[in-house]
Amino acid sequence: MMPDTSPIRVLVADDQVDILDAFRLLLSDEGYDVTAARSPGEALERLEATDFDLAILDLNYTRDTTSGQEGFDLMERIRAADPALPVLVMTAWSSVPGAVEAMRRGARDYIEKPWDDERLLVTVRTQIDLRRALRKSHRLQEANARLQRGATPVFIGDSAAVRDVRQTIERIAPSDAAVLITGEHGTGKDVVATWLHALSERRNRPLVTMNAGGLAEGIAESELFGHVKGAFTDARFDRIGCFELADEGTLFLDEIANMPVRLQAKLLRVLQTGELQRVGSSRLRFVNVRVLSATNAELTAEIAGGRFREDLLYRLNTVVIHLPPLRDRPEDIEPLAVHFLAHYAARYRKPLGGFEPAATAALASHRWPGNVRELAHSVERAVLMADATATSISARHLGLQGTRGAEAGAEAISLEDAERVFIEKVLARHGGDVRLAAQQLGMSRSALYRRLQQYGVRE
Ligand SMILES: Nc1ncnc2c1ncn2[C@@H]1O[C@H](COP(=O)(O)OP(=O)(O)OP(=O)(O)O)[C@@H](O)[C@H]1O
Ligand SMILES: [Mg+2]
Repeated sequence: MMPDTSPIRVLVADDQVDILDAFRLLLSDEGYDVTAARSPGEALERLEATDFDLAILDLNYTRDTTSGQEGFDLMERIRAADPALPVLVMTAWSSVPGAVEAMRRGARDYIEKPWDDERLLVTVRTQIDLRRALRKSHRLQEANARLQRGATPVFIGDSAAVRDVRQTIERIAPSDAAVLITGEHGTGKDVVATWLHALSERRNRPLVTMNAGGLAEGIAESELFGHVKGAFTDARFDRIGCFELADEGTLFLDEIANMPVRLQAKLLRVLQTGELQRVGSSRLRFVNVRVLSATNAELTAEIAGGRFREDLLYRLNTVVIHLPPLRDRPEDIEPLAVHFLAHYAARYRKPLGGFEPAATAALASHRWPGNVRELAHSVERAVLMADATATSISARHLGLQGTRGAEAGAEAISLEDAERVFIEKVLARHGGDVRLAAQQLGMSRSALYRRLQQYGVRE
């Protein structure tokens, strides 16, 4: 989880000395560490000796100056040796067919000779940022793979808030402390819970998640504690509950504020004693469970309103991890967007390597009421919208203008946009609490959920 501080190494391969010199000048001025190679053989040698961040290859060398075959061969050997190394190709002749073939073989982008310095630098920077972000996420994934069989999501972000959260996670994960994770919808509460478990001594035991708000009270109780055959009409078999499933592991109680008050009392007793009874049974069972919980509600307000037990809160909040909304940590937007772009571009097999400046600006000025989840959805949508050959995401692909336009002038927008903006505002006012927002909007919670799903604000 350390930032990358090593110099950025770029390999440039071309048989023309003046081209190599031009690249060396341009790129060293930007602080890159440039290595030149005058033949495909020399390029491969250099690649074997050093770990590069980017390779820029000419397609044509002296042996055969027009077909690009030598360049393609070189590219293929590089891809085989280091599939993650971004490769840019240079093409001098009427470039399109050669460039397309190179992209087909895995090049990230192409540069036409003669090139425009500004454009070239943007392309180079984009590829390097992407490479670094990917590496970082790979490192996190690897670190995690050693710890746990299942896949743990990455936790991206360079803001002070996210660094703080990461530090807290590392510090408290090994303990058995009860952790309450707070934050609006889509801020990453699940991600934090997963990490807390993955970095704990309990990582080889189960992490069991229960959504405390999703079920009717009777069912929720048996979901939590299990039941025995005959406990109620439908109970035809014994059933083990989440607590017992999580024995020796971690129980993650999601949306804890929505748990019915009577069930809260039962939960409190189990947390105090470590003993539970399955519904319909008087037999005491003992469990050893670490409890994590999450909420997007303001629990102090819930307590004041009699909807949440204060004594239960004190059992759950030994440590509180708060995830600020994305709009309060704008530094995280770009690294997250780059991460999601790499992810979805790979999934949908598109050669997208970055964002156009206008797209980056649109990402930066959007308010993200659905937080990181909304950002992930927007990038996924943009990747799907981009043409098959586009190499970067444009502002149009993102389609975020709706909200901004709506804020700029109410006359120019559609009814649907106006509704969306209004709902987002109400939701933000209630700290992302869907129940309270639905109340104010005079609609049912499920109707509001459906709207939010349409907007990509919630899954
Ligand atoms: N810092 C992050 N780095 C990478 N991905 C993230 C980060 N934060 C959130 N995500 C991704 O954003 C999405 C939403 O995150 P998550 O489900 O953890 O939010 P949540 O706070 O639990 O939301 P809800 O309140 O709706 O349950 C997930 O796909 C998650 O992987
Ligand atoms: Mg969640």
